[in-house]
Amino acid sequence: MQSRSLVLAGLVACAQALDTVQYGAFLATATYSVANQLGFFPENGLNVVYNQVPNSTAAFASVLSGEYDILTATVDNALNYRFNQNQEVTVLGQLDQGPDLVLASIPSITSIDQLRGKPIIVDSPLSGYAYLLQEVLATHGLTLANNDYYFMTVGGTPSRFSALVNEALPNGTAVYATILTYPFTVEGQNLPSGQAPNILARISDVVYPITSSAFTIRESSLASKTETALLTRFMTSMYAANKFLLNPRNKRCSIQALVKQLGVSQNVAAQEYASAVNWLSGEVSPPRNDFSVSQTGIMNDVQVRLQFGGFSTPADFNFTAALVPGKGNLIDYSVRNVAIAQYLKHPLKGNCTLPH
Ligand SMILES: *[C@@H]1O[C@H](CO)[C@@H](O)[C@H](O)[C@H]1NC(C)=O
Ligand SMILES: *[C@@H]1O[C@H](CO)[C@@H](O)[C@H](O)[C@H]1NC(C)=O
Ligand SMILES: *[C@@H]1O[C@H](CO)[C@@H](O)[C@H](O)[C@H]1NC(C)=O
Ligand SMILES: *[C@@H]1O[C@H](CO)[C@@H](O)[C@H](O)[C@H]1NC(C)=O
Repeated sequence: MQSRSLVLAGLVACAQALDTVQYGAFLATATYSVANQLGFFPENGLNVVYNQVPNSTAAFASVLSGEYDILTATVDNALNYRFNQNQEVTVLGQLDQGPDLVLASIPSITSIDQLRGKPIIVDSPLSGYAYLLQEVLATHGLTLANNDYYFMTVGGTPSRFSALVNEALPNGTAVYATILTYPFTVEGQNLPSGQAPNILARISDVVYPITSSAFTIRESSLASKTETALLTRFMTSMYAANKFLLNPRNKRCSIQALVKQLGVSQNVAAQEYASAVNWLSGEVSPPRNDFSVSQTGIMNDVQVRLQFGGFSTPADFNFTAALVPGKGNLIDYSVRNVAIAQYLKHPLKGNCTLPH
């Protein structure tokens, strides 16, 4: 039952003009879910439109063309676009360290060796996740170079998860294995036995740490004061939501936000929460959780891509220099810095009313 005053408060809030942010994402991260479900966007005057991206090619085209204001995508994409394709993409900060990334297979495949001769479905064979898969399979002596397996391009994690569970693509082609992320890793583990995918390896057991999801924009946005101000408010809301998520005092409210966002049970949401706050592979940016890019993490991304010939940069290209944060560089913290300063002046609280 809603009281009259609550209804009125709602109407007043709706009457305020909110500024629209077009946000592209592969999945509703826990940080986004908290921001979205607990009012961290409207509290900061924003109407954030979530655009589900189908694959990285389409996502980067949309951010570069101005269709999206901001994108969260694994940072390897940004490395590829900037250093291989000379596209002016800019990373504002790190959201996570490889969200629950696993190599998962259909129930009848129980070891990496059984993937010999099989296709592995991916977003793109030239994506960071595909290079991580190469690294993991190589621990069992399977290499792409020797044709021990091959990649089949299917799309983002939602479509790959559904293909894995169906053990087939929509066109009937058999599916054996893929890389899964939050929230699908946990969702898969909660399917009835016989349907639950097997986890053949955790990526964090092979490469650690990695920088994964990152806030990504087109560099030209930073030349516009209006656009920069909008991005700053978005980052403030996400920062507040991430801080809320990572504070154990807010556990019940965070889990409730995940129940609503993901449409999963309380039990599954509690497991998703545990994965999102995991200090190794969750939505963290240690040590301060201020969206700083882990220099070790991003260098590991670079090393994995380099190892499998994924850069067309000159042999003497200095990645250490290229990854120094600064104006005009791949990583630029100017928006993040102002966003946190704004948060410190006016902390956003969210609207969860559950007791701790
Ligand atoms: C919190 O904010 C969200 C987003 O505006 C809204 O959907 C939800 O109804 C709000 N909840 C409460 C308890 O006010
Ligand atoms: C990416 O998605 C777009 C839009 O749905 C589609 O047209 C395109 O074929 C996809 N590209 C790849 C490489 O899957
Ligand atoms: C089904 O789709 C996959 C991925 O696009 C493709 O590689 C495969 O050749 C297709 N199979 C058939 C029978 O069309
Ligand atoms: C690469 O750049 C870093 C940072 O600017 C510098 O310290 C290092 O000496 C450079 N390495 C080489 C081989 O030039």
